[in-house]
Amino acid sequence: MQDNIKPATTSNIPKHVAIIMDGNGRWAQKKGSPRIAGHKAGVETVRSVIQACAEKGIEVLTLFAFSSENWRRPEKEVSLLMGLFLAALQREVKKLHKNDVRLKIVGDVTAFDKKIQEQIIKSEELTKNNKRLVLNIAANYGGQWDITQAVKALAKKVETGSLKSDEITSDLISQHLSMNDLPEPDLFIRTGGEQRISNFLIWQLAYSELYFTDTLWPDFDRDAFDLALQSFAGRQRRFGHTGEQIEKMKNA
Ligand code: IPE
Ligand code: IPE
Ligand code: MG
Repeated sequence: MQDNIKPATTSNIPKHVAIIMDGNGRWAQKKGSPRIAGHKAGVETVRSVIQACAEKGIEVLTLFAFSSENWRRPEKEVSLLMGLFLAALQREVKKLHKNDVRLKIVGDVTAFDKKIQEQIIKSEELTKNNKRLVLNIAANYGGQWDITQAVKALAKKVETGSLKSDEITSDLISQHLSMNDLPEPDLFIRTGGEQRISNFLIWQLAYSELYFTDTLWPDFDRDAFDLALQSFAGRQRRFGHTGEQIEKMKNA
């Protein structure tokens, strides 16, 4: 047996977990209920995953709530989702604050109606100094939008002469993306069986560990989350190095 390979332990907790919460509609349809019933049940799962993250010492949780492409859904579903989003923000923010959670909405929030935008500002302001967990809700978010807005900001700097095009590096691009103040996701989870990114974080997932499960989001309970964390803990992240190099660094 090679003694330089350490067994993975479950103490290997990710700092940042990013989740595509998928499968609400199918969950409801399976029960013969309208899709919105699945979205409502999904809010319960959000609550339990936030709590699990806080307990486990995960520092950042990013949840994909509404993609820039989800506007293509039937008007009625979009408007019910907006209502649910606003109600959840209004209802949950005090509890989040009490639990020392910092809430951030990432995405192009200018597309939301005024009431939602005001609630977003209020919620972010109230929780801005909290330290236990950063909770990012990606709403009207798209990875392509994120990169586009970063490129625009850089192009403006070049236009005004404060930046030379030769000075653009991948680090500088990262610094202009949403969540530039946070570590990139260590673990990406998608529930609901699909194995795709659906325009979620594209740049930031460059070296994330990917985990896909058939479990539908409303059924994604603490045990299901633990399975994802166990899978993560068992992986060796190499970032281009060899496995041997990584073991040496760990033992140094
Ligand atoms: C994810 O569940 C929630 C949102 C996209 C808002 P879906 O609504 O996509 O559920 P399925 O994929 O249709 O089952
Ligand atoms: C991705 O799920 C977006 C969210 C979970 C918010 P979708 O259900 O919209 O993804 P596609 O359309 O199946 O790729
Ligand atoms: Mg879906």
